[in-house]
Amino acid sequence: MCGIVGYIGNKDAVPILLKGLQRLEYRGYDSAGISVIGNDGIQIVKQAGKVSALAKAVDDSPVSGSVGIAHTRWATHGEPNDTNAHPHSDDDGTFSLVHNGIIENHASLRTYLQEQGVTFGTDTDTEVLVQLIAYLYKKDGISFEQAVQSALREVVGAYGIAVTCREEPDTIIIARLGSPLVLGIGDDEYFIASDASPIVEYTRKVVYLDEGEMVCIRPDGYEVKHIQDDTVLSKEVQDIDLSVEQIEKGNFPHFMVKEIHEQAHTIPDTLRGRLLADEGTAHLGGIEDWIPRFESAHRIYITACGTSWHAGLIGKYLIEEYANIPVHVEYASEFRYRRSIVDKDTLVLAISQSGETADTLAAVKKAKEKGALTVGICNVVGSSIARETECGIYTHAGPEIGVASTKAFTAQVTVLYMLALRLGKIAGMSAIEGRTLAKALTDIGKNAEQILDSSAEIEKVAWEYRDAENFLYLGRGLNFPVALEGALKLKEISYIHAEGYPAAEMKHGPIALIDEKMPVVFLAPHDMTFEKVLSNISEVKARKGMIITLTDKKTKDLSDLSDHLIVVPTSHPRIFPILATIPLQLLAYHLAVIRGCNVDQPRNLAKSVTVE
Ligand code: G6P
Repeated sequence: MCGIVGYIGNKDAVPILLKGLQRLEYRGYDSAGISVIGNDGIQIVKQAGKVSALAKAVDDSPVSGSVGIAHTRWATHGEPNDTNAHPHSDDDGTFSLVHNGIIENHASLRTYLQEQGVTFGTDTDTEVLVQLIAYLYKKDGISFEQAVQSALREVVGAYGIAVTCREEPDTIIIARLGSPLVLGIGDDEYFIASDASPIVEYTRKVVYLDEGEMVCIRPDGYEVKHIQDDTVLSKEVQDIDLSVEQIEKGNFPHFMVKEIHEQAHTIPDTLRGRLLADEGTAHLGGIEDWIPRFESAHRIYITACGTSWHAGLIGKYLIEEYANIPVHVEYASEFRYRRSIVDKDTLVLAISQSGETADTLAAVKKAKEKGALTVGICNVVGSSIARETECGIYTHAGPEIGVASTKAFTAQVTVLYMLALRLGKIAGMSAIEGRTLAKALTDIGKNAEQILDSSAEIEKVAWEYRDAENFLYLGRGLNFPVALEGALKLKEISYIHAEGYPAAEMKHGPIALIDEKMPVVFLAPHDMTFEKVLSNISEVKARKGMIITLTDKKTKDLSDLSDHLIVVPTSHPRIFPILATIPLQLLAYHLAVIRGCNVDQPRNLAKSVTVE
């Protein structure tokens, strides 16, 4: 969701900025723009649409300069059109600014500025901020840096910003409150971005901004300070653990399918060095110091959004089964605003691939205020949620670029298996039970490979349902969240309406939808729920629905009832959900490709939702 790129140094900023915007396309956006300071002052090119169209526009009317900022916008206030695209400027073009986030008091600031004679050219909250900076700069005769700082002190809301000034052309100022920014440090040049992906090909040395910090950057150095109290801060320079190959498609046509295929090694990567298969438990370095608080906890809340929330539901089933602690799973957007029963005896697990989701971050802050121990399960190292939580477990799935989460989801589930084993040990889970599950976890990598080899078969199934307008996904127990995730994946990328339900709930509503045009995907492993699911399959068959069944063993009863049977290899009934997820991802992927959809950047969606 919205991306910022910036460059200051001795090279032409334009190609660096455009390439950086391409790297950030995965976040989701609807317009893009660039501004550089050259001999003719600030030059801005911006428009609705893709970065490739912006690059073409820059080719048609070239701009150049060695200082610049750029942006991909995901509209919140004001339509996604050319005018509302960033960068924004003040009345006379002294400043140029790009912004991620929302200025909540934009309406009152706009009224105040209008009363002072400022005229506005756009509907955006962002223009209010740049106009405020310009107003203070001119009225008080202060420096660029002082004007930005004074304006930020007036602002309520969330922001990551980068600003340039025509009168101080060798400076970029960046600031963060609620929206991440990374400063890349090169040799007499600096790179700015919302995340490390645009920076990694130039330098591995970065500084992550913390909340409430601003940085004044010039080609020969930078200074970080606190926006409110003016303290100058000395920040740790960190190494980015990311390679260019990880953020490129390689031989795959889309990031999503690359990431689906990566699961054969990302799941083992998540387990590596943590799963103690012989002991039937796990050693989770990021939480071990806090284990006494885990031991004394009376309840657990899992809070998350989207796909991560589905992982949380699987976590609930696993932790309650193995560790015998009550677990509540709540959407972060609900958790943050209601009176949930959270106190010092509560653990709050926040699950987030990006580690930047605004609602999940707010939920963590609320849980901390109430005295709970907060635990982050994040994929992005150094992300806001990872840093805000007291302790945590990284999922180590590597960068996920496709908007629809795939490998990050299975990595989250993998962490939750290990957490259930770790907490199970505290709760007295038997060693044999622990070892059996742990052994099955170690087999997931090779099981996943086998499933991935059947991608062409799943593609054939997808061709048969390419014209379907609805899908139903049904599962019981641990497989109910998988049904939800299968349905979410399909709707996100193929725009086919899909719903996930606990299989037995079908009779309380969805059964009315079943006719010969309704494909129903069943999750039917041969576990304790099998007979019940088989009955549900018969109920659909009796109403002429089309049946796609995922199971762990080909049996005659299933073959007779199903139009398509997809078998995943598994050695343990509790492992079926994670493995069954992979064919569902492939089904959604192939259907979306067949229907001509943009699978990596589905319409209206953003990878990381940094606004409410
Ligand atoms: C967005 C993404 C989803 C993701 C959700 C939560 O909606 O499109 O794929 O599941 O945010 O994101 P998080 O980074 O917190 O897991």
